[in-house]
Amino acid sequence: MKRYLITSALPYASGVTHLGNVVGSTLPADIYARYCRLAGRETLSICGSDEHGVAITIAAEKEGVSPRVVIDRYHEANARALHGLDIDFDCYDRTSNPIHAATAQEFFLVWRDKGLLVEREENQFYDDDAKIFLPDRYVEGTCPNCGHDRARGDQCDSCGAYYDQLDLKNPRSLVSGKPPVVRKTKHWYFRLDAFQSWCEEYIQQHAGSWKDNVLQQSRSWLTQGLAGRSATRDMSWGIPVPLDGAEGKVLYVWFEAVLGYISITKQWALQQGTPDAWNTWWRSPDTMYTAFLGKDNIVFHTIIFPILLHTREDDGYILPENVPANEFLNLEGKKFSKSRNWAIDVLQFLNDFPEPQHRDVLRYVLTMNMPETRDSDFTWRDFQARTNNELAAILGNYVNRVMQFTQKNFNGTVPAYDAAASRDEHETILVAALEKGMHAVGASLDAYRFRDAATEAMNIARAANKYFNDKAPWKAIASDPADCARTMHVCIQAIRTLSVAFAPFCPAASATIQRMLGESPITGAPNECTVGDNRWLNGATFTIPVGRTLGEPTILFTKVENDVVEREIAKLGTPDEQPATAAAPAAAPVTEEGVITIDQFGAVRLRTAVILEAERVPKSEKLLKLQVDIGTEKRQILAGIAKHYAPEDLIGKTICVVANLKPAKLMGMESQGMVLAASNANGTLTLMTPMDPSVGPGAEVR
Ligand code: MF3
Ligand code: ZN
Repeated sequence: MKRYLITSALPYASGVTHLGNVVGSTLPADIYARYCRLAGRETLSICGSDEHGVAITIAAEKEGVSPRVVIDRYHEANARALHGLDIDFDCYDRTSNPIHAATAQEFFLVWRDKGLLVEREENQFYDDDAKIFLPDRYVEGTCPNCGHDRARGDQCDSCGAYYDQLDLKNPRSLVSGKPPVVRKTKHWYFRLDAFQSWCEEYIQQHAGSWKDNVLQQSRSWLTQGLAGRSATRDMSWGIPVPLDGAEGKVLYVWFEAVLGYISITKQWALQQGTPDAWNTWWRSPDTMYTAFLGKDNIVFHTIIFPILLHTREDDGYILPENVPANEFLNLEGKKFSKSRNWAIDVLQFLNDFPEPQHRDVLRYVLTMNMPETRDSDFTWRDFQARTNNELAAILGNYVNRVMQFTQKNFNGTVPAYDAAASRDEHETILVAALEKGMHAVGASLDAYRFRDAATEAMNIARAANKYFNDKAPWKAIASDPADCARTMHVCIQAIRTLSVAFAPFCPAASATIQRMLGESPITGAPNECTVGDNRWLNGATFTIPVGRTLGEPTILFTKVENDVVEREIAKLGTPDEQPATAAAPAAAPVTEEGVITIDQFGAVRLRTAVILEAERVPKSEKLLKLQVDIGTEKRQILAGIAKHYAPEDLIGKTICVVANLKPAKLMGMESQGMVLAASNANGTLTLMTPMDPSVGPGAEVR
């Protein structure tokens, strides 16, 4: 039988986990793991803290404390925050655990023995005051590409260019503030390039099952060609490079953090008292491995990590079967920004909303807005609307009506049901809805479609409400008491179905419901389920016995009032004024002569794009609706070129688009960019295309 191994990207222990991390990886991982366990599958879910790298050392320096202080504090805080949202893993450990260092060093030595590491001397910036080599994030200077004067060591936030640290103009060390000197240092480069075609094939094999956003980002990386990457850094905080002559060097965080999934599994096995048990998860062809993460981590999990595992396939290591990465979540239409307090951290949420029902509300609202295929938005109004109109009005109200009615008219015991008597039309429809519903939720979760899954779960509650209304037991109690009893029996069984269907999304409510039904709650948490006991499959079966005494009815969800929403909105700081979809700064006004600076031009992101689909827009003479691949994602663009091109002639053409234009609505449809075309003297348009169309999508145009 297959085993289900589930990992979630390890949050950096440099701050409190926020809704973006939760919605991106830890929540979907928890929902999926609960579902797998309820379906009787052998399941292991793994997460923990990522405790190395510059994210940690910068946080420590800002506070003037040691990295140890920072990681201890945030490891504990994040474990508490996740548990507070009922996001529970089989093991939540940390990469500072010595088991992890040993695991990563073992991998490193195998790479060396296999000739996959190349030693290279190179020049790097060195801070002579602080006596340290400067990682990219510790240097700032003028962008060699656009002239932006606060460009980071290896990348410019203004124009998006990537470059070598040494090409930065007027560099300053962020440690001492002084210009760094250039010094020779030695590093070990991992030969990613040796795996280019292996990796292309690996991605291609999964083309049918992986999400588009994941495939596109991975392919666009591969198109640029894999190059050797330094697997080591000059730093004191991290896992020491286990070689002679490597004093003061540590493993580059991305070459060890991903191996944390393996070492945390080892830690889990130790805690179980079966230290070798990790092998059956990581080195067995029966494992079906799913890695959950957010969009900024995609290539590390679809390219680098698989390559690292592939180097050990002779030892039986397995590869991710799926990497269902999410895009980003915005807050009230603007990018999350911690420094501007345009953010909601989980501990703050739990503090403001201490009742268990609100963890469920947050989980549900995040699921319904999960950025599965593109960036999405969290708003407090939506939080209120989904609580009041869905969780309270549909699910909560149904459970409460049935429980109250049974309490009042049947003394709180499960009424009789004659299984031999035939079902009436309403019961037949409801039973079909329960069965179909359970199946639909499960199938959506197996396809990593979490929004659909939660919607299907709510549809079961809608069907149950309809049944209750159609049967009108409050009338039948006088006119046909036997039928009324049967109706209430069926209603109670449907409540149980809801407690299973909602368990992955709203485990607290699910547990409350099961207690009301006189069951001991099982919501798919670690160590709760028995392998082979498929509660999901039996979710729609009538299993609550006639005559059982039910518990006291409890209100599952209370409404969120306006003042609560206003209170939460008032707490937010000031957002970054850039629109959430574009990272470029707003260009300063053009001078009177119409002259712009290179910075102003750099604000426009021009990219090549390949047209995937094209169709006419009904009732418009001018517009064509295009679906284009811009390298990192798919976009819909409405272009005024219908008089000049037939849609079918455009498919597969490489064009040029403005990639950071604020999205606009045209004829009720969203347009996410603009195509470039030149117009002739006679007014005909011709699309701008590269002379060599083999550049493919996503190339920068300057
Ligand atoms: N710490 C990284 C982040 O928060 C994620 C690391 S995932 C790992 O973006 F697998 F590499 F640990
Ligand atoms: Zn730049």
